[in-house]
Amino acid sequence: MLVSDRQSRITLDRLKFQLHRHFPDGVNSPDWGAFELRLDRNFPELFRHLLELYGHHFDFYYHLESLLEAMAAAWLERSPDLRSMDAMREADPAWFQSGRLIGGMAYVDLFAGTVKKLHGHIPYLQELGITYLHLMPLYRTRGGDDDGGYAVSSYRELDPELGTIEDLRTLAAEMRHHGISLVLDFVINHTSNEHAWARRALDGDEMYQDYYLMFHTREVPDQYEKHIRSIFPDEHPGCFTYLSTLKKWVWTTFHTYQWDLNYRNPEVFQAMATEMLFLANLGVEVLRIDAVPFIWKQQGTSCENLPEAHRLLEAFNGVARIVAPAMAFKSEAIVAPAEISQYISRDKCPISYNPLLMALSWESLATRGARLLRHSMRKRFAIDAGCAWVNYVRSHDDIGWGFDDWDAGEIGVDPRGHRDFLNRFYLGEHETSFAEGEMFQENPVTGDARICGTTASLCGLGHALAAGDEYRVDFAIRRILLIHGVIFTIGGIPLIYLGDEIGMLNDYSYKSDPAKAGDARWLHRPAFDWAKAEARSAPGSAEYRIHQGILKLTQMRLNNAALSRGDTEIVDSGNDHVFGYFRTSPEQTILCLANFNDHPEPISAPRLRQLGLGRALVDIVGGASIFAGRKIDMQPLQFMVLLRQGG
Ligand code: GLC
Repeated sequence: MLVSDRQSRITLDRLKFQLHRHFPDGVNSPDWGAFELRLDRNFPELFRHLLELYGHHFDFYYHLESLLEAMAAAWLERSPDLRSMDAMREADPAWFQSGRLIGGMAYVDLFAGTVKKLHGHIPYLQELGITYLHLMPLYRTRGGDDDGGYAVSSYRELDPELGTIEDLRTLAAEMRHHGISLVLDFVINHTSNEHAWARRALDGDEMYQDYYLMFHTREVPDQYEKHIRSIFPDEHPGCFTYLSTLKKWVWTTFHTYQWDLNYRNPEVFQAMATEMLFLANLGVEVLRIDAVPFIWKQQGTSCENLPEAHRLLEAFNGVARIVAPAMAFKSEAIVAPAEISQYISRDKCPISYNPLLMALSWESLATRGARLLRHSMRKRFAIDAGCAWVNYVRSHDDIGWGFDDWDAGEIGVDPRGHRDFLNRFYLGEHETSFAEGEMFQENPVTGDARICGTTASLCGLGHALAAGDEYRVDFAIRRILLIHGVIFTIGGIPLIYLGDEIGMLNDYSYKSDPAKAGDARWLHRPAFDWAKAEARSAPGSAEYRIHQGILKLTQMRLNNAALSRGDTEIVDSGNDHVFGYFRTSPEQTILCLANFNDHPEPISAPRLRQLGLGRALVDIVGGASIFAGRKIDMQPLQFMVLLRQGG
């Protein structure tokens, strides 16, 4: 729908008038001007998106008015500390591109016990250089099997075992004062079946039933299911769950207890926007937008990545930019590579997971080659200026082989056969395998399957230690450091799953916990082992070697301008086993090389010169001066960061 500037201006004037009547004291507060200024700047966009989504509702203006009231109320509650951060971040909107940003992620209970106890672990985080901490969902959930916290029953309460909202607010402030940004989830697609809205719906309240997608018969669900895929096929086929109390089918993309929200209802948008602002006011600096591709449904489509899902995201972003610009959105869109990039922009999510780099790093370790990685990254690494990837080697979720079939075909790789190979490889079933993983959500119909396991176990450290084979231990550690080397230097925010820096292995105990046994992802979510962490100071131990390697990467990021905000160019190293890229800033040019082979690999000196490097080089990872006469020799699984000698 087209909207003229005039229409938007008149609407805003009317809305401001209402706000003045509604918040007479607030309007007179000294900071109100800052809020109105942002409103003036951002309202036209927000209005356009909302009009497109909800303009056909007869009571559109009523909803708009109450949304603006909720926004003003949230802004009035925002602490002075956060308001000053808003001003700072507005002046430096790409703050998250700084080289000092290094991410960690953890479950509060598994890492520290409680929110209060986490304070005591801030020194550990600082030692590692962590300045971005993603705490996995810690809200009140349905209890028991709760999809690792993603079945949220309330954003305004924490899981009582973890602490209180006030504990979290205090922690956020403490972290902020230590320069650590708090990252929390916003599970935008669904609530648990025990959320107050769901309970009311179950009690027969039709207004709340309209918060979800409910159907009397299978007729409509059957129509939808012709085009949509099953996300958790192990758990339930299709996307709907029968509610016997209501005699209705409810949309459940993920688990049967996670009900998808109905964003066609403008009230749902407002209700969720209000919850989002509550989180912003706790001191969240990066909001992880969970499962964003699924938020809009349309019959006859796959119900993923629809244009309206993008409009919704822009609308949420618009709300946040007016009330809490210090908070940046990060997208969790684990979909086809071409779709992932659509979520990345300043108006949607300026930060995004990079699942393609993640999956292809594992692909490269398995194949001992970098062709698909190089080819895909050359096509797909570049994103808008002012946006940043979150590069990770694994997360709390499974590893899916989400490379693009076309990209694979272009270099002669059969995508389906290759995915089968990768699954077998990481299950330890292939003769060339070093890995110890488990299968997740195998779909017999499509042949699709994903892999679980900690970084160390997938790199072969568990097997090697058990066999007491020092040679294999060494190789496993090299693999761990190689893929971390890439995520720390390729450009973006590196994200460590806390525990990986000390080589935590698979945790098989989940199989005897009824709340976890059905979900193999618990294999790679072990309780952080603080005794093992002590071994990081014992030279020679695996923990020490991994930890030291990561500390070195941290130092390299902090001390090299090109690794902070530099540009990235993926290059052909001239050797298919070696992944290479330049990082360039006005002050510096750096060439990173990652040899994925278990054997030494040469890089020819003429090739290096062609890439603009001279003969006298220094590798700042190994601390070695290198004279590139005819070639340079890379050790098995070596990661090099090359500078010209003398700068
Ligand atoms: C995201 C989370 C995942 C969860 C799903 C449903 O993909 O990362 O852990 O199961 O959303 O909320």
